[in-house]
Amino acid sequence: MISYNLSMEFKTIIEPFKIKSVESLPITTEQERRGFLEREHWNVFGLKSQEVTIDLLTDSGTGSMSSEQWAAIMRGDESYAGSHSWQRFNEVLSDLTGYKHIIPTHQGRASEKILATISVKEGDIIPSNSHFDTTRANFEFAQSNPIDLLCEEGLDLLSPAPFKGNVDLEKLEELLKGPESNKIPFVLMTITNNTGGGQPVSMDNLKKVKELCTKYNKMFLLDACRFAENAWFVSQREEEYKDVEIREIAKEAFRLADGCTISLKKDGFGNIGGVLALNDDAMAEAARNLLILTEGFPTYGGLAGRDLDALAQGLKEITDKNYLEYRARSISYLAEKALSYDIPVVQPAGGHALYIDAKTFLPNIPPHEYPGHSVACEIYLIGGVRAVELGTLAFGVANENGEPDTPATHELVRLAAPRRTYTQSHFDYVAEVLEKLAEKKDKLKGYKILEQPKLLRHFTAKLKPLK
Ligand code: F0G
Repeated sequence: MISYNLSMEFKTIIEPFKIKSVESLPITTEQERRGFLEREHWNVFGLKSQEVTIDLLTDSGTGSMSSEQWAAIMRGDESYAGSHSWQRFNEVLSDLTGYKHIIPTHQGRASEKILATISVKEGDIIPSNSHFDTTRANFEFAQSNPIDLLCEEGLDLLSPAPFKGNVDLEKLEELLKGPESNKIPFVLMTITNNTGGGQPVSMDNLKKVKELCTKYNKMFLLDACRFAENAWFVSQREEEYKDVEIREIAKEAFRLADGCTISLKKDGFGNIGGVLALNDDAMAEAARNLLILTEGFPTYGGLAGRDLDALAQGLKEITDKNYLEYRARSISYLAEKALSYDIPVVQPAGGHALYIDAKTFLPNIPPHEYPGHSVACEIYLIGGVRAVELGTLAFGVANENGEPDTPATHELVRLAAPRRTYTQSHFDYVAEVLEKLAEKKDKLKGYKILEQPKLLRHFTAKLKPLK
């Protein structure tokens, strides 16, 4: 495996913070865990948090705040309009992104919903490297057609290319100059690409997307949930940026585009929050009018003043090089361990999560028996580690008359790391769980769905293990 993060002088990864406030972790027995999963019909989403020892379900809103953020919480000004907290939030985001209009929302998908409502019509086409699920769902709800144009390397899970989140520029240009060009309101780039394994997009790719958007007179937007992690990878892998400050790289990326949506539950270091930022005056006015209807007044947008202040502080902290290095190294450490146990993982390791390729790991379990789900249940049984299946259970299509599901493209299991929450020994523990998973590989069985809803079935489906 190629490691791109070689700059640390020591083998030991240390957390670049010390701990001031702690929360107990539940330690359970395998017998108890089996009981919990059985009770929840073998769906890890049903588990109570006190039944999970290490929770790697998501990195969204699950991070730890710094003492400065907690201090900022106390500074929170809860005035309905024009609060001081809003001013601080606005100032940090204006400086970071350079966009003229900063519109706060309660989380990423609220920004997406507003964007889709004000700027997308039926039949429109929205090209992207990869749309995240909620982004896709919001554009589809607006009767438009979100299209993924990920580069070739990105489609190959196991190839170690440096920028597997890049968009395929040729395909993008074909679409932009093609007969349906007038149906494209904007191009949306997701940095980093969550759907493709947390893979980064190069500055070179972003610059070329901007050139194409200028040439064909299209707006260019970012889904920038993990903008700091993306900037970190750029600093490590793109020669031109190796001596540039992370924050400067992030600023430059934002300034290539005309606006962005961000879920601040990721690289905002927040437990809640989002933003829609735009340069266009008319769009911003339409967005604010809708915001008042659905989120709140434009100086709080669904957030308490104290949340705005915690986010303003978090957004200052997130581009810290030491933090980003520790974060990337924790994930690549887990990936190296997994590979050493012959567990295939998406390579190179992404920014926020380890992705196990369950299709390659368990070739004997077909997609309609959910190999990824089998892995997710097993790592919970082994060590109380909660992960999420991103394969046929999440994205496959259930067919009528007992026909097997139409499978998803990949069978992945995501172990996402909450920010500043778990320590190196927790990652060592997860690695040991993976080692035991590899030892049990031949004993793993598929699953059968007993009950499922029509939409987003993986959250609530009831399953049972096959004999
Ligand atoms: N865009 C990306 C790239 C995301 O990863 C997410 C959320 C969103 C938009 C939506 O933001 O949750 O604040 O409404 N991703 C979470 C995850 C849910 O687990 O990856 P949100």
